[in-house]
Amino acid sequence: MDKLLIRGGRALHGEVLVSGAKNAALPELCAALLTADPVTLLNVPRLQDVSTMLKLIRNMGVAAERADDGTVRIDASALSTPEAPYELVKTMRASVLALGPLLARFGEATVSLPGGCAIGSRPVDQHIKGMAAMGAEIVVEHGYMIAKLPTGWTRLKGARITTDMVTVTGTENFLMAAALAEGETVLENAAQEPEISDLAEMLIAMGAKIEGHGTSRIRIQGVEKLHGCTHRVVADRIEAGTFLCAVAATGGDVVLRHGRADHLDAVIDKLREAGADVQAVEGGIRVQSAGGATLKAQGFRTTEYPGFPTDMQAQFMALDCVAQGTATVTETIFENRFMHVNELLRLGAKIQVDGKVAVIEGVGTAGRLSGATVMATDLRASASLVIAGLVATGETVVDRIYHLDRGYDCMEAKLRGIGADIERIR
Ligand code: EPU
Repeated sequence: MDKLLIRGGRALHGEVLVSGAKNAALPELCAALLTADPVTLLNVPRLQDVSTMLKLIRNMGVAAERADDGTVRIDASALSTPEAPYELVKTMRASVLALGPLLARFGEATVSLPGGCAIGSRPVDQHIKGMAAMGAEIVVEHGYMIAKLPTGWTRLKGARITTDMVTVTGTENFLMAAALAEGETVLENAAQEPEISDLAEMLIAMGAKIEGHGTSRIRIQGVEKLHGCTHRVVADRIEAGTFLCAVAATGGDVVLRHGRADHLDAVIDKLREAGADVQAVEGGIRVQSAGGATLKAQGFRTTEYPGFPTDMQAQFMALDCVAQGTATVTETIFENRFMHVNELLRLGAKIQVDGKVAVIEGVGTAGRLSGATVMATDLRASASLVIAGLVATGETVVDRIYHLDRGYDCMEAKLRGIGADIERIR
């Protein structure tokens, strides 16, 4: 199993190229199932989760080729098996995104229930509720969602769908299903993440009629057929945010090429309050910071976009650990997303957790984190440990970095490129 060896204490300088967004590429690979025409996606990040999604759609009989420059060509004309088996779904929950497109184009889908997850229970009841509102008959049997259209139907029917909570992949599944449904679908309480808008733009390029994406009410007029398109995946705001936190914590001056400051308002506000200088520059984001004890710890609550993203909670907490002062962090989206805390404690951080609330007392001028061997438990937790390791004294070894490889495109190479002392041990 690969590990990362980090020798902390170096400031970071230079430029990093931000990759395409994981959480946009995954639904967009599924959106290609909605048409028999070829679809080309550009700027697809090199990630384990993308490989898993390609495996999933190839398993359905779809032709999919990935080139080294991030171009993925998909031809779903020969799709023959509208199924997402447990073996693939269990390794990546985003596989549930196959449900909407398969039902919409084939009138049937068999998709495994995702099962447990390190960050929380993550049920899919809202996905089922929405598809049922569009007329699908869904039973859950032997760990699978088995969905089909009622006898005599050829398409799903548009519906008003109001979810009990804001759900990102739920909204994406409904968008894709509604694009080919008969009549109008209105999504109330829709997720507003930039990845939703990026998916909607791709669907529009395929001939879908969608309005209101980026707001909490999305209207979709179903069309009979969608056609092929070429679409560029939006830049990964969470990857950019992770590098912003890393540079703020270590100190330095870095430009994130292709980074979208307008997708990171909540995080950038907190970084500025902490004392880092973050500016939107042409084609990217620039961050300058004196690092560590010059920063002031910042509290926040995670909420849906445009609030502070749960996917940035762990990384910002690593920054709080090395800053001055005390900060209260509340995780409101997932019930078990503090798994990084025990590992950060091993590096000398001072954190107390009570349910959804973590109180972090920054080590500030009193000392520094000290390197140790720590274990990654999920994707963003791994990124938080890398940031802590970059600031800590001595050597930090981050074990189980397969989590990191699921969602970060060449993270250690990008960090090395801006001066970090980090290497992969195989
Ligand atoms: N929820 C339900 N029932 C449902 C759907 C969601 O109870 O049917 C609950 C979840 O348990 C959670 C909340 O609603 O408490 C929000 O979950 P959401 O459905 O929005 O999460 P997701 O769509 O499964 C996506 C991202 C996650 C990110 C969350 C929240 C993708 C592929 N995944 O997950 O990304 O944390 O939205 O922003 O887009 C990551 O990249 O590290 C990651 C975990």
